[in-house]
Amino acid sequence: MKVEFSAFPKAFSGNVAVFVGADKQPLATAQVIDKEVGGTVVRAMNASRFTGAKAQTLTLLGQSGSLARLTLLGVGKARELDARTAEGLGGLIAAEANASGQKTVTVVVDPVKGTRLSPGQIAAHVALGARLRNYRFGRYKTKDKPEQKPTLEQITVVLAGPAEARRAYALLEPTIDAVFFARDLVSEPPNVLYPVSFAQRAKELTKLGVKVEILGEAEMKKLGMGSLLGVGQGSERESQLLVMRWMNGPKSQKPVALIGKGVTFDTGGISLKPAGGMEDMKWDMGGAGAVTGAMRLLAGRKAKANVIAICALVENMPDGKAQRPGDVVKSMSGQTIEVINTDAEGRLILCDAMWYAQEKFEPQAMVELSTLTGAIIVALGHERAGLFSNNTPLSNKLRAAGSLIGEKLWRMPLGPSYDKLIDSEIADMKNVSNGRDGGSITAAQFLQRFVKEGVAWAHLDIAGVAWSAKGDNTTPKGATAFGVRLLDRLIADNYER
Ligand code: BES
Ligand code: MN
Ligand code: ZN
Repeated sequence: MKVEFSAFPKAFSGNVAVFVGADKQPLATAQVIDKEVGGTVVRAMNASRFTGAKAQTLTLLGQSGSLARLTLLGVGKARELDARTAEGLGGLIAAEANASGQKTVTVVVDPVKGTRLSPGQIAAHVALGARLRNYRFGRYKTKDKPEQKPTLEQITVVLAGPAEARRAYALLEPTIDAVFFARDLVSEPPNVLYPVSFAQRAKELTKLGVKVEILGEAEMKKLGMGSLLGVGQGSERESQLLVMRWMNGPKSQKPVALIGKGVTFDTGGISLKPAGGMEDMKWDMGGAGAVTGAMRLLAGRKAKANVIAICALVENMPDGKAQRPGDVVKSMSGQTIEVINTDAEGRLILCDAMWYAQEKFEPQAMVELSTLTGAIIVALGHERAGLFSNNTPLSNKLRAAGSLIGEKLWRMPLGPSYDKLIDSEIADMKNVSNGRDGGSITAAQFLQRFVKEGVAWAHLDIAGVAWSAKGDNTTPKGATAFGVRLLDRLIADNYER
């Protein structure tokens, strides 16, 4: 989809969207058009529920010879018009255009009094939102019905001062590439995306200046990653440890480490999952997808920070060689683990990836993302990811980044009384507690046993947000790429320069 920014034309034609403020306040262009069409805009508002509230739309058809469709776009209260709201408006317009089969649409960004954003910034974020919403994973569709095909080819954003909008948008374009890259990874079927092919795709980031290193099973064995290797041992596909480095910050600055769960397919292993819905477990690599996407974004915008990312990539399969419930494995940290349930595999691969990150890179902070537990969906639904951390400042930075870009987090508790639930009779710990109670917390406690003294650590359980059954204004249904923009924002606001 093409994006253009242009100055006000002499007259509008085609499909045009104009801003209306809260309480039915048409902004400049809406007022001008209303006069041209004999007051129809105001009459249409009065004949409907449309008030100009944030993200409301009302479309008028065939208003004049040259205006095919006129969409009134509610921008709501001016002081609430922030970048995320602007993105939502752009997304709505893209969705409308596709639903009605339009190829082009013009959005008019009139100056809004009372917002902190300039028209150029609003315009750039409107365009970003439209692009993000217009994503589609169509690679395997060979015979689309016309009504299912997205039609929108171009959005033109009209404003006074398009040059500023162009500059602002250019800075946002790496976001689009990174989000789409992550959504593609998450959407790919598990016969196409497996540990080796995932790692190969990440190699593309070399072009942007990311150093990409891939460790295979032999190297991981030498490092003593018995816990990670145990999960992959029932699979025909070789497990991989993907290590990415973006070291563009001051030499003296310790890196931030990002860790991702990359189970390219989770059958549960010998503790096999039920058949219904098992296909969803292709996106059990959503954490790794987000972390890899974040690296792409950091490199794409040449972030002045030191960031490393490590993805534990495995396939969890039942097999004659698969690990059994009852097996005891030794992690790279030296701690031993009794594997009670082979379906609690995420923590088993993450503990080795986290240990490796700390041994090798001595990070100042470590943020790990994983589709770790069904229990977090029971607790938080699909609105927020669970946040577990040993460090309140880091938690607050993450939450602030999340609310700015619309990837919301909710902090969950940790503590010794939860921790003892994973003590084992025969090993240092077991990988699940006895019951299901507090399942997300006991999973986080397990991970915390692999955090070294003094390292600020956060675990984001993204099981409920990595995939969306309904989508939202800037995300079509399917892979969300949750975490890509959150991590980028975290770095931009706290660890750059
Ligand atoms: N990948 C799943 C968690 C999951 C469930 C992600 C639903 C997304 C949607 C994870 O590996 C898993 O199987 N967790 C188990 C843990 C249990 C065995 C303690 C779960 O949540 O049931
Ligand atoms: Mn599992
Ligand atoms: Zn899993």
